[in-house]
Amino acid sequence: MSKYKIAPSILSANFAKLGEEITNVLAAGADIVHFDVMDNHYVPNLTIGPLVCEAIRPLTTAMIDVHLMVKPVDRIIPDFAKAGANMITFHPEASEHIDRTLGLIKECGCKAGLVFNPGTPLHYLDHVMDKLDMILIMSVNPGFGGQKFIPEALAKLRAVRQKIDASGRDIWLEIDGGVKVDNIAEIARAGADTFVAGSAVFGAGKDTDAHRYDTVIAAMRAELAKV
Ligand code: DX5
Ligand code: ZN
Repeated sequence: MSKYKIAPSILSANFAKLGEEITNVLAAGADIVHFDVMDNHYVPNLTIGPLVCEAIRPLTTAMIDVHLMVKPVDRIIPDFAKAGANMITFHPEASEHIDRTLGLIKECGCKAGLVFNPGTPLHYLDHVMDKLDMILIMSVNPGFGGQKFIPEALAKLRAVRQKIDASGRDIWLEIDGGVKVDNIAEIARAGADTFVAGSAVFGAGKDTDAHRYDTVIAAMRAELAKV
């Protein structure tokens, strides 16, 4: 896997052909499957759960990166681990006991991460850096695909990059929301190494591409090569 990882959000895939979409996007060169879980409570939308994770698991050995936008979080974590999730991230506001939730994810055998909404301060990182495999910075308010990138996220990425480098730990820094071919390089320069992109990938499928998404993934890689 290269330094930069592309993680298409299947939220914007064609759900009537979900397996085919995932197979195609990975064959086109994506690295990770980003799996958005929404509960119509923590966020105003409702998406997919462990049954869908279990159904897609046999399609690939690629990492399934489960982004939990649910409250409470703990009850559902073992279910996602059993369904084949590799990484589980959650929002600190959605857990009463952040350290316990991180521990639970690890006990279930998954990598663990914390997600920061645009308005969420970074102090939640202060005492748990040693338990994190991923920090996810939201560049939109969670709930929907296809929203506009909030530029303040770049300053936040820079701040988190400093914290990660100072910690000396191997923590991935992921960005989620409004990532496109034309801003991915700037986002990488701010310190992100893992890029969630939903509408920019699944909205750019081409019948003339061998795997529908070859052109758009190659364009993202070409931009990242400039960084
Ligand atoms: C938003 C989700 C994102 C979303 C990204 O709540 O967490 O993963 O699907 O979609 P785009 O890339 O279209 O902003
Ligand atoms: Zn997401």
